[in-house]
Amino acid sequence: MHRRDFIKLTAAVGVASALPGWSRLAFAADPPALPIPELLTTDATSRIAINVQAGKTTFGSHVATTWGYNGNLLGPALQLRQGKAVTVDIHNQLSEETTLHWHGLEVPGDVDGGPQGIIKPGETRTVTFTPTQRAATCWFHPHQHGKTGRQVAMGLAGLVLIEDNELHNLLLPKQWGIDDVPVIVQDKKFTADGQIDYQLDVMSAAVGWFGDTLLTNGVIYPQHSAPKGWLRLRLLNGCNARMLNFATSDNRPLYVIASDGGLLPEPVKVTALPVLPGERFEVLVDISDSKAFDLVTLPVRQMGMEGAPFDNAYPVMRIQPLAIPASGTLPDTLTRMPALPSLDGLTQRTLQLSMDPMLDMMGHRGSMDHGGNGFDFHNANKINGVAFEMDKPMFSAAKGQYERWLISGKGDMMLHPFHIHGTQFRILSENGNAPAAHRSGWKDIVHVEGDVSEVLVKFDHDAPKEFAYMAHCHLLEHEDTGMMLGFTV
Ligand code: C2O
Ligand code: CU
Ligand code: CU
Repeated sequence: MHRRDFIKLTAAVGVASALPGWSRLAFAADPPALPIPELLTTDATSRIAINVQAGKTTFGSHVATTWGYNGNLLGPALQLRQGKAVTVDIHNQLSEETTLHWHGLEVPGDVDGGPQGIIKPGETRTVTFTPTQRAATCWFHPHQHGKTGRQVAMGLAGLVLIEDNELHNLLLPKQWGIDDVPVIVQDKKFTADGQIDYQLDVMSAAVGWFGDTLLTNGVIYPQHSAPKGWLRLRLLNGCNARMLNFATSDNRPLYVIASDGGLLPEPVKVTALPVLPGERFEVLVDISDSKAFDLVTLPVRQMGMEGAPFDNAYPVMRIQPLAIPASGTLPDTLTRMPALPSLDGLTQRTLQLSMDPMLDMMGHRGSMDHGGNGFDFHNANKINGVAFEMDKPMFSAAKGQYERWLISGKGDMMLHPFHIHGTQFRILSENGNAPAAHRSGWKDIVHVEGDVSEVLVKFDHDAPKEFAYMAHCHLLEHEDTGMMLGFTV
């Protein structure tokens, strides 16, 4: 580790341990039930309505203003069918602009909901699309430039479940909210009077915004009772910046069956599952022994977030098996993964991620001065030397052609979960290494941290200049301060 990184790390951890919140939010002895997002399918006219709205949510003993889709916090799970058109009416009832981005969906640029798809307060944006990709657990969230981190922190996030025949024919657990359970994990931080305490400042622009409390589907340490047998968890790391590392309190293994963009060829058994901000993994857990246990997140190495309470296994939720038997199984094989095409002659692009040296310096001084002495951090994170420019796409990709993208984080030791719109890609190498088995399938986020990652992308839809696709760091404070580019197809 470079010396400056060590200084930054020390400064950031100092801030985290000074936070007051942890002592106030103790775990309930009798945990509340895990809230299950409503499964929303299209109506008879193939429409879905989404209201972006403000509301109130109780956390511990405080009531906070929160934002949600069709509710006070988070949002529904939209169940879409491959090949079936859907029209979504998005009503913005907030008093500020927002956009709604379909993270992981291969949809045209004008539907994608990136920073150009602005919905003014009181207005409605209607998009129509037909999912063509394979079954996957994706999600939707705001993408308002410079405000994404705050709008997500306020509570805006929902799931999109794409279904297809292949998935239907597998005998996986599939009873929503019973043995097929969404697990949206986010960290939060609260002010003394219980409001969500978000700030985009020099410190968070450098290392990201971190909370001191984990919420699972919007609740602190909930409990889920499930039939004994195979339990399917759809994990989403919905944190702005925090990497999670899922495991169980009694070391029972997790069987990974799907990554961001769909099923893996076969289950991959792990005892710990690191998940970057924005990533999804589906896992099966065997709970046939009828013993209760916790899903936890283990400590990880990430700048700014290694202090208490995350320096020990932190409970995400309690899982309580019921006496009734479950019906799903863990198949030996799941899908066929096409062989990687030849890399000869492919268009190659290098995306160099970087941080303004001034931000780097201010970042580690930030423990004393979040104000940054007037330094403008808003464009301090860059790709190929430039901060995001809304009306200047950086390049144009050819539709339907494979391209090889090299994403380099050489220059700092920061975590950059790098995300690309409009595609589910394959990872050729990840931060200098061959990708792990469960990271070798369909992905839309790749791990970049001090080294180079290579991905094979292909875009099957158009993205014109006015609605360019985005490629960016999914550490939302890096994204909001410039580590993003637009490109056309
Ligand atoms: Cu999940 Cu461009 O974002
Ligand atoms: Cu996205
Ligand atoms: Cu980053």
